[in-house]
Amino acid sequence: MSDRIFLSPPFVGDEERNFVARAFDSNYIAPCGPQVDEFERRLAALSGRQHAVAVSSGTAALDLLMDYFGVDSSWTVFAPTLTFIATVGPAFHRGARLEFVDADPTGNIDCSLLDRALERCGTEKRMVISVDLYGRCADYARLEAIAAKHHAVFISDSAEAVGAKSPSGPAGIAGEAAIYSFNGNKIVTTSGGGAVLTDDPELAAAVKARSQQAREPVLWYEHKRVGYNYRLSNLLAALGLAQLDRLPAILENRAATSRYYRELGLELLPPVASENHWLNVMLCPDSASRDRLIERFGAANIEVRPVWKPLHLQPVFQSVKMHGGEVAAGLFARGLCLPSGTGLSAHDLERISAILRDSAEGCAKRA
Ligand SMILES: Cc1ncc(COP(=O)(O)O)c(C=O)c1O
Repeated sequence: MSDRIFLSPPFVGDEERNFVARAFDSNYIAPCGPQVDEFERRLAALSGRQHAVAVSSGTAALDLLMDYFGVDSSWTVFAPTLTFIATVGPAFHRGARLEFVDADPTGNIDCSLLDRALERCGTEKRMVISVDLYGRCADYARLEAIAAKHHAVFISDSAEAVGAKSPSGPAGIAGEAAIYSFNGNKIVTTSGGGAVLTDDPELAAAVKARSQQAREPVLWYEHKRVGYNYRLSNLLAALGLAQLDRLPAILENRAATSRYYRELGLELLPPVASENHWLNVMLCPDSASRDRLIERFGAANIEVRPVWKPLHLQPVFQSVKMHGGEVAAGLFARGLCLPSGTGLSAHDLERISAILRDSAEGCAKRA
């Protein structure tokens, strides 16, 4: 059987090996060290923020933000339904009341629905967590205005959007704070990792301290509060630095793959300004044709996947309040994530397009 083509595998090589080896040889094999400091500086510059705090995952970054804002059962947290469960996991674990909001046709949160949902919100403490779905920035300017109008804390879950640029600035620039993920399937990977981005020095300092057990800055172990162990390993920060050096080439390569899919005449999610092309999503005519395509790709040893199953359709969230839902449900029924990894070869793309060409329903808009 032909080699497996993955959806978005890590893209690493000698550069990454050398960076990690240098960190290893320096014996900074700890969750702090010069590579973490440098990684944080580079992430702040990339996101256009004053501060970046590198942590062990995107989920940890969100958890630290929930901790910082004191999210608990007196809060209502609004989030898009079309996302990965990690967007709301930390708020859920703190007992927050969740409310989900439908997507607009781009897949990102429907701002008008969010505005109306906040209008009707009965609790004083509110938070909006928006998501840059598949590396496509949400409408930051509008979300900031809506959050301000309703006195809601605004957090941007930019886990999937490292390197993307919105009309308001780079992914990561929106809200009181934003987060990135450097999970193995992301555009920039540290194997596992994440970051909090913010312009607020107090937030940055608090998050950093709490990510390392909230130790007071004295020689002995002194604690005024209980923290977490969420720091990123220095070795993994070294990996991240090598990846950031590659980022322009990664983005170019991904954009070329996206153009390739568009030129095949596929119906894709409508483009948004300066996405990072993390995953290309094709829209099939219906769920039956999507499932047939999944089967054909599977038989050819090619990984494809339906888009995120909306949170309001997840058994665990059956009782969560939902605003709309038809758009996200429709995208889930029809949407298929195509292989979008950085290292796709011309031969890989030919194998993928052969399947699409052979499936009439796979090329809905094809002439
Ligand atoms: C939208 C979104 N939020 C949060 C996360 C969590 O990131 P991590 O896997 O680094 O914990 C992910 C990805 O995995 C994600 O896609």
